[in-house]
Amino acid sequence: MLVTREEMVFDFQGAKLDPVKDKDVIVWAVQQFLYGEITGVQIGHWLYNAPDLESARFLARQAVEEFQHVGNFLRILEILGAPPEKAAWSVRFLATGLMGGDWSEHVALEMALGEGLVLQAFYAMIDTVDEPEIVAILKRGVRQEERHVDFGERQTRKAIAGRPALRRRLLGLALVSLWGVSRLDAFMKKRLPKDHPALKRLPDLVRHSVRIAELRLTRIGLTDAPISSMSAARKLALVAEAYAGKLVFGLASWVLSVLLLPLRLLGLAGPKRLTDTYLSDPLVVGGGRLGAAAEDDPSDAGEQVGPGGSPAGHGAAARA
Ligand SMILES: [Fe+2]
Ligand SMILES: [Fe+2]
Repeated sequence: MLVTREEMVFDFQGAKLDPVKDKDVIVWAVQQFLYGEITGVQIGHWLYNAPDLESARFLARQAVEEFQHVGNFLRILEILGAPPEKAAWSVRFLATGLMGGDWSEHVALEMALGEGLVLQAFYAMIDTVDEPEIVAILKRGVRQEERHVDFGERQTRKAIAGRPALRRRLLGLALVSLWGVSRLDAFMKKRLPKDHPALKRLPDLVRHSVRIAELRLTRIGLTDAPISSMSAARKLALVAEAYAGKLVFGLASWVLSVLLLPLRLLGLAGPKRLTDTYLSDPLVVGGGRLGAAAEDDPSDAGEQVGPGGSPAGHGAAARA
């Protein structure tokens, strides 16, 4: 990752969440994470639209991992003695309603930025929840989430290389997401108890997470100047340009899809997919790295758990 775990972790100064006394707040957080992991179904869309074989293979593996995480969070709810329940409207909207419009939006906004923010929340849970089995489950999951964020960062860099307009558009869209996250700060200040050693620090965690996300966007190369030094007018201009670009692009794609419909019905003029491009794909041309061994990651041999505490798979072996 372009931002290290050391930079990302927030110092709770030893404050803890008790699985009995603070059960409600932990359960609430886990319900939101569970929904987030279920949105792993969206990977199916990106797999079908993957630009190359390397990305397709990564996404296939990621889908398996996200559904292992579903098992992880169901197990955590079981430990806490709480049933799965509906996630908050805002979380459902952020995770599903704001799904990326194209590959570059997916890797930049959902993987690098979105999964990066979720990763910070996982680190916070690991540092605060005072229950060893829950912490052990979360620790196994974050290794995989770190890889997802890393992939998002690398793919975003690749997508914006030599494309300044796309770079500005992604930055404008990212600013909107970050503005939404930063609003949580005021919401938490109003709702959370001010005398709880861990919960009273959550608004600071939100501010820290936004700062780290801005650092990530800078290191990816979406901006030269730090976002914190940008004027409100500059940010507004970037957001306006991003949404105007999305509107024009959306309209142009719609017109094109109507005009090309007769050709598409004949199987012509559709988007290029791996089934059209695989013979010139760098992995196929390069050869030699397509065996199962190339995907194995010894650091990921920990088992994921399903409800009831039974192992749902064994790292790389479960993905085979
Ligand atoms: Fe996940
Ligand atoms: Fe993930």
